[in-house]
Amino acid sequence: MADILTVTGGSPLVGDLEVRGAKNLVSKAMVAALLAEGPCVLRNVPEISDVKVVSGLLELHGVKIDSTDNDGELLLDPTNVEQAHVADIDAHAGSSRVPVLLCGPLLHRLGEAFIPDLGGCRIGERPINYHLDVLRQFGADVQKRPEGLRLTAPHGLHGAKVRLPFPSVGATEQVLLTAVRAQGVTELSNAAVEPEIIDLICVLQKMGAIISVETDRVIKIEGVDRLGGYEHTAIPDRIEAGSWACAALATRGDVYVRGAQQQPMMPFLNVFRKVGGAFTIDDEGIRFWHPGGQLRSLVLETDVHPGFMTDWQQPLVVALTQTSGLSIVHERVYENRLGFTEALGEMGAVIQLYRECLGGSPCRFGRANFRHSAVVSGPTPLRGAEITVPDLRGGFSYLIAALAAEGTSKVHGIDLIYRGYERFSDKLDALGATYDVG
Ligand code: EPZ
Repeated sequence: MADILTVTGGSPLVGDLEVRGAKNLVSKAMVAALLAEGPCVLRNVPEISDVKVVSGLLELHGVKIDSTDNDGELLLDPTNVEQAHVADIDAHAGSSRVPVLLCGPLLHRLGEAFIPDLGGCRIGERPINYHLDVLRQFGADVQKRPEGLRLTAPHGLHGAKVRLPFPSVGATEQVLLTAVRAQGVTELSNAAVEPEIIDLICVLQKMGAIISVETDRVIKIEGVDRLGGYEHTAIPDRIEAGSWACAALATRGDVYVRGAQQQPMMPFLNVFRKVGGAFTIDDEGIRFWHPGGQLRSLVLETDVHPGFMTDWQQPLVVALTQTSGLSIVHERVYENRLGFTEALGEMGAVIQLYRECLGGSPCRFGRANFRHSAVVSGPTPLRGAEITVPDLRGGFSYLIAALAAEGTSKVHGIDLIYRGYERFSDKLDALGATYDVG
C-alpha cells in the first residue's frame, strides 16, 4: 500500500468499527512467552506492524510463532530459545523499544542478552536508564559495546527493593519480566499500574508467577523456579478506542467502537463528557458522538494511570481546536509530545506552545526548556493541507484533522499509523470517509 493518503474532509464519520487487543499489552505478553517452558496462546491479537516486529524479534531468538485458524490467535513456542546477532535484532527492531524488555527473560534463559540502540516514536528523549538501573539492581552486569549493550548475570538474578524515579510503564514491565524468575522477593515502588500492566500481570500469574499489586503503586513479586505456558485474551486497545472517539467528535460524527470498555477508559470518558461529547456504554462497546451545538474548552493534564493518558492527548487536541474558548493542555509524561501541533497550525488551528507548566500541576519538565504546554484557541475551521506523519499518535491526529478539514489533504508517512491501528483504511471505509491511497 502507498504511504500517502489523500483525504477529502468536512463530512462526519458515522458507523461501526471494532478494536482488538491493546498494542501495548500484546507486545509485552509476546515477550513474556520467552520465560515459558511450554507453548503459549495469545488471542485478540491485532494485525498491526508492531506485532510483526515483535514476532520477528522473538523468532530471531528461536521462538516458533504461528497463527492458528482462529482470527487473531497466535501460538508461541519458546522451547528452543537461542541467542540472536545484534545486527539482526537492530535490523528487525526498527523503531521499536521492545528489545530492551527481552533482557530479563534472556538473562534467565541464556545467561546473557544483547540489545541494539533503541528507537520508538520521537516524542521525547526516551532513554532506557531506568531499565538498565533496574537490571543492575537484580545483579545484571551491563557492558556498552559499539554495536549495542551486552548484559550478563555472573551471579544470577536476585530479587531487589526497587524504587522507580517515575512510574514508567516500560521499567515496571522490565521489573515484572525479570523478578518473576529471580531468586527471592522483589518489592517495586512507584510502579506504573496501567491496565495493560495489570493484564501482563494476569498473563504472568497464569504462567505460575506470584505477584501482588498493593496500594500506593507497590508491586511485590516472589520469584519462582519455573514458569509454564499461558492462554490469554488480550484486553482491548483503549488508545485506539479513544482515538476513534476523538475522530467522531472532531468531525461531528457518530461512531460505535465495538470492544471498547468503560473501566480502562474512565479518565477519557470524563474528559470527553466535559468537552461536550456524548457517549453510551453497553456490553459490547461504546458509542461516541457529537451531540450538536458548541463544544466546551477545558484544562487537560496528561498523567500516568489513573490519569488521562498521554497517548490520548494528540487525537484529542484536534477535537479541542473545535471547542469554544481557550483550552489548556499540559503534557506531563513526555517532554516533546506537542511538536505535532505545528502542522495543525498550517491547517488553520491556533495553538501556542509554552515552556511553563500550565494547568495547575507542576511536572518534571517545568524547570527544563521543553515546550510541553499548549493553549488551543477555538473554534477554528480547519482547511486541507499537505502534512507528514511525525509519530504514531500524532499521525492519527493528522488523519483526524484531515477528515475534519474542508478541502483535500495529502497525508504522507501513513505506514507509521499501521504500527498501532489495525486495518484503519477498512475502518475509514466503514465510517464513510472519502480518501484515496496515493
Ligand atoms: C509505553 O512507552 C508505551 N509504549 C507508550 O505508547 C506510552 O506512551 C507510554 O508507555 C506511557 O503510557 C509501549 O508500551 C510499547 P514510559 P514506555 O517508560 O514504556 C521516561 C504509543 O503511542 N523514561 O512509561 O517507553 C520517558 O522518557 C506509545 O502507543 C526515562 O526517563 O514509556 C518518558 O518521559 C508511545 N527513562 C516517561 O519516562 C527510562 O528508562 C514515561 O515513559 C524510561 C522512561
